[in-house]
Amino acid sequence: MEISELRHDLVRNNLRFLRLWLQRPARLGALVPSGRSLAAAMAAEIDTTAPGAVVELGGGTGNITAALLDIGTDPRDIVVIEREPSLCRVIARRFPQIRVICGDATKLRGLLRRAGIGPVKAVVSGLPLLAIPKRAERLIVAQAFDVLADYGVLIQFTYGPRAPISRAVASGLDIAGDRSHWVLGNLPPAAVWQYRRRAESRDIAGAA
Ligand SMILES: C[S@@+](CC[C@H](N)C(=O)[O-])C[C@H]1O[C@@H](n2cnc3c(N)ncnc32)[C@H](O)[C@@H]1O
Repeated sequence: MEISELRHDLVRNNLRFLRLWLQRPARLGALVPSGRSLAAAMAAEIDTTAPGAVVELGGGTGNITAALLDIGTDPRDIVVIEREPSLCRVIARRFPQIRVICGDATKLRGLLRRAGIGPVKAVVSGLPLLAIPKRAERLIVAQAFDVLADYGVLIQFTYGPRAPISRAVASGLDIAGDRSHWVLGNLPPAAVWQYRRRAESRDIAGAA
């Protein structure tokens, strides 16, 4: 694809995202897609040598998906779950070699089972978890850890100073989070967090 075509696609996708946001701001969760530096910081958390699928929740226009491919993830290992049909079409057109499941992340376990996907080494979430109802947040995070392999990691960004998963949900599921990056160059600035099962976090800390 020519650079001018790429730019045209980028502008068109951002406008589509903005249009959807104007119609239903709470469903989209952000006014603009993540920038390159934030997407790269999310992808950098993934262990490219570990086996398993990378499941992205809330793919939007595919900026994080692009970063997953940039770090060398096998396209056959990338699965994007997106709820908005028009955005599913954008991602499928932009990355024909990956799997896109048009569905709701609150039904993650069933969606992956029906598609025969597993094991999962990373769940990369672009969902605004703190802004959605607590029940949906709990369902999504619980199912993410149901589908993740023991060594798996949930990667989540946030625009706020606080942890992106509420304390009640994290402690109820016995998971622990760490802020691994500030991405000050993103607009707005963002932080990338990674969550693991508490037992795994202890093992990693013990081995360090
Ligand atoms: C804040 S945007 C992030 C988009 C993209 N990952 C990025 O970083 O630019 C959140 C995306 O999640 C999608 N989304 C929100 N709730 C969802 C859900 N329950 N299941 C699947 N997708 C959802 C929205 O349609 C939107 O595309």
